[in-house]
Amino acid sequence: MTTKSAVHMVVCFLQLCIVKGQIICERQMVAEWQVEPKPIVVKWTPRENICSDFYTECWKMNKNTTREDKNLSVPQLCPLQLQLGDSLFISSEPSFQSYGMNLVNVSKEEFINCPKSGFLQEQLIFVCQIRGLHQVDPNWLGAGTHYFAELHKRGPALCKMGLRLNVTIKQQFCQQSPNAPLCSGHGRCLSHVWEKAYNCHCYPQYSGKFCQKFDMCSIKPCHNNASCTEKSEGTRDSYECTCPPKFSGRNCTEIVGQCQPHTCLSGNCSNVTPNSFLCECDKGFTAYMFIFSTG
Ligand SMILES: *[C@@H]1O[C@H](CO)[C@@H](O)[C@H](O)[C@H]1NC(C)=O
Ligand SMILES: *[C@@H]1O[C@H](CO)[C@@H](O)[C@H](O)[C@H]1NC(C)=O
Ligand SMILES: *[C@@H]1O[C@H](CO)[C@@H](O)[C@H](O)[C@H]1NC(C)=O
Ligand SMILES: *[C@@H]1O[C@H](CO)[C@@H](O)[C@H](O)[C@H]1NC(C)=O
Ligand SMILES: *[C@@H]1O[C@H](CO)[C@@H](O)[C@H](O)[C@H]1NC(C)=O
Ligand SMILES: *[C@@H]1O[C@H](CO)[C@@H](O)[C@H](O)[C@H]1NC(C)=O
Ligand SMILES: *[C@@H]1O[C@H](CO)[C@@H](O)[C@H](O)[C@H]1NC(C)=O
Repeated sequence: MTTKSAVHMVVCFLQLCIVKGQIICERQMVAEWQVEPKPIVVKWTPRENICSDFYTECWKMNKNTTREDKNLSVPQLCPLQLQLGDSLFISSEPSFQSYGMNLVNVSKEEFINCPKSGFLQEQLIFVCQIRGLHQVDPNWLGAGTHYFAELHKRGPALCKMGLRLNVTIKQQFCQQSPNAPLCSGHGRCLSHVWEKAYNCHCYPQYSGKFCQKFDMCSIKPCHNNASCTEKSEGTRDSYECTCPPKFSGRNCTEIVGQCQPHTCLSGNCSNVTPNSFLCECDKGFTAYMFIFSTG
């Protein structure tokens, strides 16, 4: 690890604040997908960023906003939500380094109750016991929720003190194709803290999973009180107007009126409103405008 990247990563240490002696993890309730993956460092120590109450401390929620009013208390490192592709570093507690330590991938139940002994080699996060700063292999950071717990010669007590971590990795479903702009440039790629992935939230007039569809009806192309329906013709966005009686045409601008082939004996007939028409007479004839009353 170079000094430069270590300095850069300091910025990304877990954010938290302390209120009346309690650790409250900093949370964004809604996060926007960052194009650049970022490195995250977790200080693996029971001294600093251990939250206990699931809702009020670890997730910084007003208890009233929770669906179930569970009193879930599991002392743990501030739970993480990362983007797929972010890198995770564990910075081990200096005073533990002489003992050596490792992390183990556990199930949700083992995370809550702290693991008993007897782990398979495959569950160990690091090949060797760690001292200092170590990167978690990206293979452990696939999309989904992962639970890591302390594996230490001193037994499960450290896990009970909070040396366990809930890491949720989210991927984004905001690009129509690998190099396409996020949400087609017509929306934001967001994830609420309780959502499992990032998805597009479209700007007004756009819709579709990737905000790829322009809402043609929003420009009000249908006239004369016609109703508008969105259509997709292949890749092009389109619309269809349903005209009220006496109007026709793509935009319902054409009047279905009184003109018949020989309405104007010597001239051209054009509809002015559904109930009136105009004869444009040939030379030498007189023009009339007939207005019919519908009653
Ligand atoms: C939580 O709800 C209770 C009763 O439903 C109410 O008295 C209290 O003011 C609420 N607290 C907050 C912080 O909204
Ligand atoms: C919730 O749990 C904590 C710790 O276990 C306890 O101190 C607190 O009294 C509990 N609160 C309620 C409302 O049950
Ligand atoms: C360990 O991690 C892998 C991949 O993340 C997962 O499939 C497996 O179920 C985990 N094992 C335990 C015991 O939690
Ligand atoms: C772990 O975090 C996720 C959110 O990222 C949450 O839904 C889940 O309940 C947490 N698990 C435990 C056991 O706290
Ligand atoms: C219908 O309205 C659209 C949008 O205003 C316009 O581009 C198009 O030329 C119009 N079509 C007809 C047949 O009037
Ligand atoms: C347009 O349609 C609405 C409801 O269908 C109706 O209430 C209104 O009177 C119509 N306006 C005109 C100018 O026809
Ligand atoms: C009537 O329509 C025809 C064909 O569109 C045109 O050639 C003619 O000049 C029109 N007559 C008048 C009086 O506008």
